[in-house]
Amino acid sequence: MSAGQLHICRCADNIYVPRSMKILRIIDETDDREIKSFDLVPADGGAEPFRFVPGQFCELSIVGEGEAPFGIASAPAEESFVRFTVKRIGRVTSRLHSLAPDAVIGMRGPLGNGFPLDAFAGRDIVVIGGGFAFTTLRSLLIEMMQDDERERFGKLSVVYGVREPGLFLYREDLAVWEARNDVDVLLTIDAPVPGWDGQVGFVPQAVQDLAPSAENAVAVICGPPIMIRFTLPVLLELGFGREAIYTSLENRMQCGVGKCGRCNVGHKYVCIDGPVFNMAELDELPPEY
Ligand SMILES: Cc1cc2nc3c(=O)[nH]c(=O)nc-3n(C[C@H](O)[C@H](O)[C@H](O)COP(=O)(O)OP(=O)(O)OC[C@H]3O[C@@H](n4cnc5c(N)ncnc54)[C@H](O)[C@@H]3O)c2cc1C
Ligand code: FES
Repeated sequence: MSAGQLHICRCADNIYVPRSMKILRIIDETDDREIKSFDLVPADGGAEPFRFVPGQFCELSIVGEGEAPFGIASAPAEESFVRFTVKRIGRVTSRLHSLAPDAVIGMRGPLGNGFPLDAFAGRDIVVIGGGFAFTTLRSLLIEMMQDDERERFGKLSVVYGVREPGLFLYREDLAVWEARNDVDVLLTIDAPVPGWDGQVGFVPQAVQDLAPSAENAVAVICGPPIMIRFTLPVLLELGFGREAIYTSLENRMQCGVGKCGRCNVGHKYVCIDGPVFNMAELDELPPEY
């Protein structure tokens, strides 16, 4: 156990019982204040370390409002808190946005499979994100950039696009990554705005311009379906095989643990077989995701 490591109480043994988590910190991520990050710690201290893999998610609950799934945005290496980045959209998320530090909410998880880091080892990694679907990509990138992890992976490239500069998440992290010489970061916005001297254009074009080598490489792509639809042919054209292109699905969920059948696509349950799949796996499913 290391100093500052997040510990979770033993009630987590029952998959349906949420742990009580206290909001340690709230970060306004975007200029429109529609997306906030919530850093959580156990409300009553904890007995068990919180272990997870980047790409996994948790169900967050608020009494009287309900429960909803959110990707874990912090990395396992960030041991003293667990972060979720939440867009205000409906009941749970609106109530969450109204809370202040020290408020207590419920958390179940970690759930789902996460990114297969062992399968990524030794390969170049191209991380492609669009809009606010960058949450688990942050977790993945922070983890891969840890001193004791970085050398497990080859060249690391990031392409991240949003509509306008004020919508980039994790701006402090982006600045740190841009300053490193062991990761290429390409940020792009949809249309020119005064004060932006970076790339302008949509993500598929940015990937085409970057033209990452597909040799011994994997691509991880999360974003709006339209972005994924137009980026996929670019990656295929560059030579990425469908089994080397990973994404994370955000199907509607309820239990999050493979019991209720709410999230199934064909014979797969997104909550336990996913949410991370490669394109070859998705090709075998009915196109209802
Ligand atoms: C694995 C996973 C990871 C996720 N990670 C994040 C995250 O990191 N940050 C984040 O902000 N959100 C994330 N989501 C999405 C989030 O769980 C939903 O937006 C959730 O429904 C919000 O709850 P709510 O009670 O505020 O919205 P609700 O009141 O349930 O719904 C609000 C509106 O959104 C629609 N809606 C809700 N869920 C979906 C859906 N899955 N597909 C299509 N329409 C939907 C509803 O029809 C309604 O119109 C994730 C979802 C999954 C499955
Ligand atoms: S959400 Fe219940 S089975 Fe997946």
